[in-house]
Amino acid sequence: MAEEKKLFKVTIDNITIDVEAGTSILNAARKIGGEIAPPAMCYYTRLQGSGGKCRTCLVEVTAGSTADPRPMPKLVASCRTTVMDGMVVKNITSERVIDARNGVVELLLINHPLDCPICDQAGECHLQDLSYEHGKAGTRFEFPRRTFDKEDLGPYIQLHMTRCILCYRCVYVADQLTEKREHGVLDRGDHSQIATYIGKALDNDFIGNVIDVCPVGALTDRTFRFKNRVWFTKPVDAHRNCPKCSGKVQLWLRGDEVFRVTARKDEWGEVKEWICNECRFDKKEVADWTIEGPSHVNRHSVISQGHYEKGVIPNETFSAIHDGRKPKLLMDIHDVSEVNRPEIQLSEIPGPAHSEDFTSNGDLKKLDI
Ligand code: SF4
Ligand code: FES
Repeated sequence: MAEEKKLFKVTIDNITIDVEAGTSILNAARKIGGEIAPPAMCYYTRLQGSGGKCRTCLVEVTAGSTADPRPMPKLVASCRTTVMDGMVVKNITSERVIDARNGVVELLLINHPLDCPICDQAGECHLQDLSYEHGKAGTRFEFPRRTFDKEDLGPYIQLHMTRCILCYRCVYVADQLTEKREHGVLDRGDHSQIATYIGKALDNDFIGNVIDVCPVGALTDRTFRFKNRVWFTKPVDAHRNCPKCSGKVQLWLRGDEVFRVTARKDEWGEVKEWICNECRFDKKEVADWTIEGPSHVNRHSVISQGHYEKGVIPNETFSAIHDGRKPKLLMDIHDVSEVNRPEIQLSEIPGPAHSEDFTSNGDLKKLDI
């Protein structure tokens, strides 16, 4: 008989749920969903070892467990802290958390160029969302921001290091999905940067996934750069028979033109299934794909503008839903109205009809033609 899984009771923002032992606070909060789930800029479910770098997911533990209900003195990273039975956690109900998160966002933006108007990631950028929710209108930073030149990492990917928040997700993608990692975080502290050793290109199959996991616009798709704004394109789910990956993708269309191909993402913005470079960069014709239908887009996302995924195309004919009446008959006003007088030929009046064109009996006056 299968061993019964041990469940822990955890309360987050006054909502109590049961989760399996070993679940992180972040994943427990995601089970509740909505705003209760802390933002996560570096944790990524499908990447081992991710999390613990950005501190955006900090929460306050007001009771450690039923056995030891003392509060934890410091805020903890919810992506790296597992739940205990009887744990009580505060996220959006804690002023300390909100204050700390505001500080983390300020820190993440210290060197950020805030170039959303020209950034391809705008509209689907987690840092942009976070800045709107927690950022300040001004900055207290008085020193020159660190800057880097843009760098082409191979034929498909461009690196804007100035936008990078050093979340390490792209490093884990290269480590865990491709045959060979050729980039990583070089140097330390304020000098840290994502770079390839002596400018090597990232051209492994599956390396394109670094674009999808990058929470900001630091790694962008060179085949899509500056071609369109994401909110002008319409995402549809599509698939093809691919020998290398699942072939399940999202096509971003404008009219019949495929502007870009990405992996499908879940409600937390994480890739559901990795896709290969061929699907992502080389299949840019609608004919290459079997289209399944419009992708689900969160209604709060700017991409939902003009994206009518719930549109229903009626399959009944007009006469079937109007008791066999044909549209032509419906338009014949004389059949359904006693007010109208079909014997009066309005077309005989030169121009629009006015009351002076009629006699007191409602007949048409004799026209002097
Ligand atoms: S380039 Fe993007 S994915 Fe890589 S560390 Fe920087 S922010 Fe993270
Ligand atoms: S998501 Fe937890 S520290 Fe980054």
